[in-house]
Amino acid sequence: MSKLKLAVVVGSNRQESINRKLAQTLVKLAGDRVAASLVQIDDLPMYNMDLEGNRPDAVNRFTAEVAACDAVLLVTPEHNRSIPAVLKNAIDWGSKPMDKNVWKGKVTAITGTSPGAIGTAVGQQHLRQIMGILGGLVMGGEAYIAFKPELIAHDGGITIDDTRAFLQDYIDNFLNVAEKHVA
Ligand code: FNR
Repeated sequence: MSKLKLAVVVGSNRQESINRKLAQTLVKLAGDRVAASLVQIDDLPMYNMDLEGNRPDAVNRFTAEVAACDAVLLVTPEHNRSIPAVLKNAIDWGSKPMDKNVWKGKVTAITGTSPGAIGTAVGQQHLRQIMGILGGLVMGGEAYIAFKPELIAHDGGITIDDTRAFLQDYIDNFLNVAEKHVA
């Protein structure tokens, strides 16, 4: 069986993003079942309909990368109980024009981490709604990860057994569904 092509989108433009760390850990847990690409979004200009018809190169690169993938993993912080603007901007670019919406029909998993106790739960609710509206096949279940500095080791491994087992189960379940969908 060929590897699942996985687009990983991190909703943070911060150099030391804890969500990027979590995303890299999830890719590690996915192992050789996936060919994963961490899709850059921080170089995208602010969405502007005036640019349609002559889309900037960064936008074309971004949409082509997502379109070429079989499934999408979104790992995002919560900003003011919603999703960060940098992620919403990327989603908006990917959603237009409607007949080229790159999110439609893609099995999509949503997770995220924050130092706060509810681990991005409210932001994820917003994201779930947005991706559903766009025709993404959004995975059910919940994965709200409360971040502690010691959670992810330097080699990307999860240091807490229960959390590692939970995330392994989460990613395995996602890949099982995504693989069946593309088969
Ligand atoms: C935050 N943060 C935050 N955290 C949270 O749990 N719920 C929230 O609503 C918010 N709101 C929020 C707004 C803004 C503008 C910022 C800059 C931050 C804190 C946030 O979780 C923390 O900065 C994380 O480190 C962000 O994740 P990355 O960027 O490190 O991946």
